[in-house]
Amino acid sequence: MTGSKKEAFQRVFRRLPEVCAFAPGRVNLIGEHTDYNGGYVLPCAIEQGVVCLAAPDPEGGFSFYSESFPSAPVSLAADKLTLSGGWADYPVCVVLAFLRAGYRFSQGAKLYFYGDLDYGAGLSSSAALEVACAFAISALFQLDPGRVELAEIAWSAENELLGVNCGIMDQFASALSKKDHALLLDTFHKEVRYVRAQFPDCGFLAVNSGVRHKLSSGGYNARRAECEAARAALDAVIPTLALCSLTEAQLEAHKAVLDDLSYRRARHAVSENARVKRAVEALEAGNAGDFGELMFASHRSLRDDFEVSCDQIDFLVDLAARTPGVYGARMTGGGFGGCTVNLVRFDAQEAFCRSVKDAYRQSFGLDARIYPVRLSAGARTIGEF
Ligand code: GLA
Repeated sequence: MTGSKKEAFQRVFRRLPEVCAFAPGRVNLIGEHTDYNGGYVLPCAIEQGVVCLAAPDPEGGFSFYSESFPSAPVSLAADKLTLSGGWADYPVCVVLAFLRAGYRFSQGAKLYFYGDLDYGAGLSSSAALEVACAFAISALFQLDPGRVELAEIAWSAENELLGVNCGIMDQFASALSKKDHALLLDTFHKEVRYVRAQFPDCGFLAVNSGVRHKLSSGGYNARRAECEAARAALDAVIPTLALCSLTEAQLEAHKAVLDDLSYRRARHAVSENARVKRAVEALEAGNAGDFGELMFASHRSLRDDFEVSCDQIDFLVDLAARTPGVYGARMTGGGFGGCTVNLVRFDAQEAFCRSVKDAYRQSFGLDARIYPVRLSAGARTIGEF
């Protein structure tokens, strides 16, 4: 980091920052809407993310400033950490989550956020902010709870305190990812395995549709409720704690207890979970063709059975399927907009970017932003800054 951010911190808070933490956004390669159904997900951290600079506040209050929302910092007394409906609710909830987890602070803190992650693009900008905040607070007060607990604190901030009913994928991906690897996360047991994710002739590209994805809007919570209703109905004939612990054959055998909508929601969760396992085998075998086919199948299931895609995203995936050198493409993240992820041969990437940008602008009048997905390490504190 350059000294300019230290100076910017000083201009806002009249003192210098003492710690710096970075947390990345993520792209999910496959395993969508499985994390709240006890299934597998396969995300990776990306290079872009959120930085949090922090200094203690001996007077005990907490102040928050973001370059993305430049106005006066939000300052709250330690005993008045309340939500106001603005961006600062995210870091406020992280502080509250530490308190809920039993941590106590001898001083307050001044926290300054900036980053290079597109907001609302389905790249987990909120998880990156929460995780960067959790790592900065942990470093500032030398709490050292470990990565899994920091991911859980960040998750609890968003879920239990902010009331966004998300699964654990995003915070775990941001906190625990490893360079050049995808993170195979068993969300039921919270177990992690790293899978090397590099093909010799191709790499992943994210295409941002520019359609803003917002988790707190109704669709996401509705899907969760529909999955839970399907699980509860199946529970009567085949007891299960999580939809994704069923096999595809078990679901077929018991589908008579489900109405059409519940069956399609369950079929997505169960088949997607099976696809993650096959995708890991394809990665380990270096088989880009199989991996890509699983991406296309994942997208069809999200579009038709789970109904969380949208016209722009379907257009981008269909276009990718017709473009030379593309092994696979799918929507990534919660859906209803955001990004697609594409597995594209290196020698075809330039032409891919050109044709996607042109066709997308012609059809929707929107600019598609395209980023190479460089599989990156998870959150870290930065010693020299
Ligand atoms: C959002 C949520 C995740 C996960 C995905 C869908 O990104 O935050 O927990 O449920 O949607 O896979």
